[in-house]
Amino acid sequence: MLNIEHFESLSLDGTWRFQLLRSPKDQPGKRWSSIPVPGLWTMQPDSFDKPIYTNVQMPWDHVAPEVPDENPTGIYERDFEIPQSWDDKRIVLHLGGYESVALISVNGDEVGLTKDSRLAAEFDITSFIKHGKNVVRISVTKWSDATYIEDQDQWWHGGITRSVKLYATDYVYIEKFATTAGLKSDGTTGTLKVDAIIGSINGKSVDGYSLRTSIEELPKVKSAQLSGTYKSHKTPLWTEMSAELQEANRKHFAGEYWDGSMPESAKRLREPLQSPWPGHIVLETTIPKVSAWSAEKPSLYTLRIELVSPTGHVVEVSQQKIGFRSVIVRGRDLLVNGQRVFIYGVNRHDFNRHTGRVLTREDMRQDLLEMKRWNFNAVRTSHYPNDAAFLELCDELGFYVIDEANIESHAFYDSISNDPRYGSAFVERVGRMVQRDMHHPSVIFWSLGNESGIGKNHYAAAAFARSLDPSRPLHYEGAINGDWRGGHVLTDVICPMYPSIKAIVSHAKSGKQDRPLIMCEYSHAMGNSNGTLKEYWDAIHSLPGLQGGFIWEFWDHGIEQTLADGSKRSAYGGDFGETRHDGNFVCDGMVFPDRTPKPAMHEFKALAAPVAFSTTKAGSGSFTITNRQFFKDLTDFGCTWNITRDGQVIDSGTIKLPKIAPRKSAKIRITSKFLTKIDGPGERFVNFSVFNLHRTDWAPAGYEVAWSQFALTSRKLSLPSAKTSELFEVAVNDAGELQLPFGVIAPQPTLWRAPTDNDRIAHFADTWEQYGVRDLERIDCMITESAKSYKVTSLWQTSTGFKIKQVQVVTPIANGYSVKETISTPKQFSDLARVGINFEIDGSLSQFTYLGIGPNETYPDRKIGRVGKWSSSVFEQYIPYVRPQENGGHAGVRWFTLTDTSGHGIRIDLDKPRQVSVNPFRATELADATHDVELRPTGNTVVTIDAAHRGLGTASCGPDTLAQYLVSGGTYSFTWSVRAI
Ligand code: GAL
Ligand code: MG
Repeated sequence: MLNIEHFESLSLDGTWRFQLLRSPKDQPGKRWSSIPVPGLWTMQPDSFDKPIYTNVQMPWDHVAPEVPDENPTGIYERDFEIPQSWDDKRIVLHLGGYESVALISVNGDEVGLTKDSRLAAEFDITSFIKHGKNVVRISVTKWSDATYIEDQDQWWHGGITRSVKLYATDYVYIEKFATTAGLKSDGTTGTLKVDAIIGSINGKSVDGYSLRTSIEELPKVKSAQLSGTYKSHKTPLWTEMSAELQEANRKHFAGEYWDGSMPESAKRLREPLQSPWPGHIVLETTIPKVSAWSAEKPSLYTLRIELVSPTGHVVEVSQQKIGFRSVIVRGRDLLVNGQRVFIYGVNRHDFNRHTGRVLTREDMRQDLLEMKRWNFNAVRTSHYPNDAAFLELCDELGFYVIDEANIESHAFYDSISNDPRYGSAFVERVGRMVQRDMHHPSVIFWSLGNESGIGKNHYAAAAFARSLDPSRPLHYEGAINGDWRGGHVLTDVICPMYPSIKAIVSHAKSGKQDRPLIMCEYSHAMGNSNGTLKEYWDAIHSLPGLQGGFIWEFWDHGIEQTLADGSKRSAYGGDFGETRHDGNFVCDGMVFPDRTPKPAMHEFKALAAPVAFSTTKAGSGSFTITNRQFFKDLTDFGCTWNITRDGQVIDSGTIKLPKIAPRKSAKIRITSKFLTKIDGPGERFVNFSVFNLHRTDWAPAGYEVAWSQFALTSRKLSLPSAKTSELFEVAVNDAGELQLPFGVIAPQPTLWRAPTDNDRIAHFADTWEQYGVRDLERIDCMITESAKSYKVTSLWQTSTGFKIKQVQVVTPIANGYSVKETISTPKQFSDLARVGINFEIDGSLSQFTYLGIGPNETYPDRKIGRVGKWSSSVFEQYIPYVRPQENGGHAGVRWFTLTDTSGHGIRIDLDKPRQVSVNPFRATELADATHDVELRPTGNTVVTIDAAHRGLGTASCGPDTLAQYLVSGGTYSFTWSVRAI
């Protein structure tokens, strides 16, 4: 599998003949259907074999290396013709990816077999080819011994996942081309080493062949032009050796140079004794004044490659993109070009909701562009090498990559990584990845795989990787699992999964940290999640030794499934009829199955922003602006500011950003009378917005990359009081229910939310079930009336018999009334979803406007947003998590209105900023649905106002929220008011 471009190639992608057998032992029949290549049979509508989702467990009960008898096998076949110009050429068949074992035959003859699903396999088929029509057959069998080391947490599929092609070379050809480009500590001197092998078939000699390389962008730089010629020689017989050579040799073996002091002359003399691999050529150079590659400035160069025959004939031309950069681990720091860059990373699986794991280059590019838009700068190719095109795109767009080997034996863990029968597979998978991907500047770590414990096979693989490529550090989570100070042979980075903030902080402060800490997985993005992301980044940004991490994960892997009635849903484990599965745990990404971002993306984007603002006193107009980038100044960005009062812009301006060097700060000043002038009761904020001045590959000019908001005044609630109001007169009915304009269901206490995936999987929701808080029944009510107020005292009972006391004191305000709520819950309630009230109003009030943190969904532990006045339809408030759950909340809401399209409706004011949600669905409906499409709007708008709301945390896989975001039992008081508008 060569990592240089082949100009003479022929794609075999397209429609192939196809048969699906139940076992590799079955014989194909005469009837063929068709299938696209690349294409998975599990994604074909009429296939009997469907996708299966399991996380750790295998999909069946067998022990390595046994596989089930029922073992779907797809026979892919097609005809092809070889161009005439390929006569007398070496012809190679390239199979990009397949799951999990493929047997290749050409014209009925078996060519070979391959098992390493995520790296291409190549077969020299020159001797199998005929003139005219040829037939290639690729038989792919789903389960094999390799399946046990491909037990990654994702869908199981079957079929061909990546392109199939042929390419042609001369009989003498470039067989290996390993490039290492580096950067010296001056930051501008590039180093380049090419370690190549010229191969040959049909007995051709490679003697006298030369390799010529040049850097296209540097035609005038002499040191950028290299060439080397291979000269064979025979190792001389002892009797043929010159006296000097014999002498040099004798001294060498006598140990005279034991301290490494062998003089150059002796080295040269001894050279003929080393028999080099035929065709081995090493080229090395140092190039001044290169532009360094980094994720921020991905400067690439084109290495032109020519293979030249002894007669001067160019027999092969190719190219490879390279970038000059250095990566080293020094002490507790990972340094890229000498800088301790932060790793704003995300884990990414190959995924497409229509094709399973078959991706086009454009699919991959869109993934990366989406990441760029949200300020990600790093990707872990969890948990296998991606298509080479993916790394090309990372080189080009600028991402730091952990390139991970296709090894995960999760179900059998270290029994497999210690099993010598799997030793060569470990070594080969890591080694082939390193050889294919060495030249990519984006790759900054080799990863030995995932979740396979620590085994002897890892040591073998690590040694191979280190010797193949001494220029890069190693990554392997298993090596530090349990002891962050261990595993040095296997990992150069402390790369835990899902550590708590407390753990990383105490480690960084322990004085015992010996390597950089970069979390390989953290902040599990399943459903409505990613609570406390800010606290992770507060720690990372402030503590030496902590350098970032990779969110788990990019995608919600919901496969688009068409149901009997023609509707479509995002399918997860169990939806294809599999009985052994892990449910919706496969939907745990920052983007929905159609790649639209989840609200948590906004939180991340703000934390990873390239520019930050701070001030000691916003009213002074003086602010510090910090360039948080490592390699660029701020010339790519523009900046505007404004001052808002209750969400209305009252002043604004533009700032010419000063030239701030990377990691440096400068002062800026804005002037406005509204900085200090108090004219009216509203809340004022200063807002900054930083945006791209020019179009980039991922965003138009004007795209916001960073923002900041500073409060100028703090707000006091001032509700117009009144002696009387019509609404107040009828505020409470005989049953003690508050009557709201447009009300359908009267306000009642709520202590529950539709469990998020975190709540459900970490069993918080089970606790709520024990409390019985999903259903509250009013068992007693007393109304005390005076001229100025109603007092409604209610006793509510949970379904398991706990009592909740509610007191509502209702007083008039202009056009409405205000309600002081006091809700008392049993002290035993140690962990509640919320304490608040909810009610339903008529769905004709379909427009929602609020003053609060927005405009996106926020929760107490994930609430980065701007205080402003935000509007949307009620339906737009609903966030379509694949498995429905609590959604659409807003933190810090001061007031909100629900109106019809002509502006009539209600306005609710709150005593202080509170968590509020409006939603077309009831919490019980959300909780009972298993898929988004099952939800049917009831026609009402469901409103919830919380005195307290539990944080989201990440406990479906990882830590819960922090103590300060938990809600315990006790007495909660808050005031809200309603007015007709
Ligand atoms: C990690 C694992 C991932 C995924 C994740 C949970 O332990 O490496 O592959 O399973 O947990 O979603
Ligand atoms: Mg796993």
